[in-house]
Amino acid sequence: MKIFLDTANLDSIRKYNDMGLLDGITTNPSLMSKEGGNPKNVMEEITKIIEGDVSLEVVSTEYSGMMDEGKRLREYGDNVVVKVPMTPDGLKACKSFSSDGIPVNVTLIFSANQALLAAKSGARYVSPFIGRLDDVGQDGMNLIKDIKQIFDNYPQFKTQILVASIRHPVHVVDAAKIGADVVTLPPAVLDKMMKHPLTKIGLENFLADWEKFKATNPDVKI
Ligand code: E4P
Repeated sequence: MKIFLDTANLDSIRKYNDMGLLDGITTNPSLMSKEGGNPKNVMEEITKIIEGDVSLEVVSTEYSGMMDEGKRLREYGDNVVVKVPMTPDGLKACKSFSSDGIPVNVTLIFSANQALLAAKSGARYVSPFIGRLDDVGQDGMNLIKDIKQIFDNYPQFKTQILVASIRHPVHVVDAAKIGADVVTLPPAVLDKMMKHPLTKIGLENFLADWEKFKATNPDVKI
């Protein structure tokens, strides 16, 4: 399963990329506006830091505006995936970009039917938002199971399931058990995945024992 970071924060992107954890990045207009500064510089820098797919989202709602913006976004790098909303105009733009060999991420997916239609339009990724479904009392992970079953039934669909709106590490484990292609994680969730209280206690104990040993063997080095 690929791991993308769901952020436009350059420090976070560099930090986790240096650990070799990142296969790509997803952004959206909310994440981009949170960072301040000139979004053009931020987007360009992300595409330089990350080798894998970088989803950059259009803000137009009309087909022609989406096409213009998508083409401009692609100028930031060959690894840019144009992110369009799950609307009729978004699907039309998805079809046009995909036919030209430009990869598309269809975002704001909340039903299996929407995922099916985005796949038909040629999307490289569909982004089902599981956390936001959980928020309204539906089990978001059931949507991932449904989409996975449908895509497995029709291997001619090459569309990848990019699990979005992830809120905690259990979402990640569940998505991996289902066999989702990608999870996109807020930095805080990725950070939590690394940690375990027994790892912390175990390391503290190892170092305390070593200090005791060093007290009687001061010249020993590793
Ligand atoms: C990813 O592509 C989405 O933009 C993101 O995961 C949405 O997450 P949120 O529901 O926490 O805003």
